[in-house]
This record gives sequence, structure tokens and C-alpha cells, in this order.
Amino acid sequence: MKILKTVFRAGMVITVAATLFSSGCSVDGASLFQKEGCINCHRFKGAGGSICPDLTDVAKGRSDEWLRQQIKDPGVNYPNSTMPGFGHLSEKEIQALIDYLKS
Ligand code: HEC
Repeated sequence: MKILKTVFRAGMVITVAATLFSSGCSVDGASLFQKEGCINCHRFKGAGGSICPDLTDVAKGRSDEWLRQQIKDPGVNYPNSTMPGFGHLSEKEIQALIDYLKS
């Protein structure tokens, strides 16, 4: 009986973990843009701060690679950058932000 209970509990843990993992998989660039504070500095499609470049058309002139670099470590593109790096984000999250900028 004890073994059965343990197996059942393990099953529950796996189900919960799988649910959490799958919801964490759908990364939404729009909410990341808000949550990470990009919007406090940058204007995008008419909303947001105006102390930094407007990003509405940024993806037209920049490659994905360049944008990825800018988000992870802006100091490489702009040696005197005042934009904080977002290297703590996962590749998926960074890609979601890039896709959002391209939208
Ligand atoms: C504290 C203000 C600040 C925050 C927060 C911020 N940025 Fe920036 N960002 C800047 C500044 C200033 C520049 C101008 C270039 C530089 O100094 O790096 C810039 C430049 C950029 C550029 C390049 C524009 C160009 O073509 O030159 C992109 C793309 C960008 N930011 C995206 C983001 C994203 C995405 C986030 C959120 C994850 C973010 N920024 C958060 C200040 C900020």
C-alpha cells in the first residue's frame, strides 16, 4: 500500500510539474516587454516611455542577431550604453521579445 501511495504521489508531482512547465513554455513577448520594464524607457507603437529610442520600426533595420545582442548585452552594440542587459532571460524569452518587436 505504501508503495502505491508513493507512486500515486509521484504521479501527481509529475502532472503538476508538467502543467507548470507547459504554461511556462508559452512566452508572451508583449507581457515580457512590460514585465521586464522595456516599456518604461522605450516607446513602442505609441505607448511607453520616451527617454530612449522608439522601437516601433527597429526590427526593420536590425537583424535578429543584432537585436538578441542588444537585449542580452547592449554594451557590445553601444559601448556607452545606458540600457541594462537582460542576460537573465532565456533564449525563448529573448526570441519572444524579438518577435514582439517585429510584430
Ligand atoms: C533604462 C532604460 C532602458 C530599458 C529598461 C531598456 N532599454 Fe533598450 N535602450 C535604451 C537606450 C538608452 C538605448 C539606446 C542605445 C543604447 O544606449 O544601448 C536602447 C536601445 C535599444 C534597442 C536598439 C535601438 C536601436 O536601433 O539603436 C533595442 C532593440 C532595445 N533597446 C530593446 C529593449 C528591450 C527589448 C528592452 C527590455 C527587455 C529594453 N530595451 C529595455 C534604454 C533602455
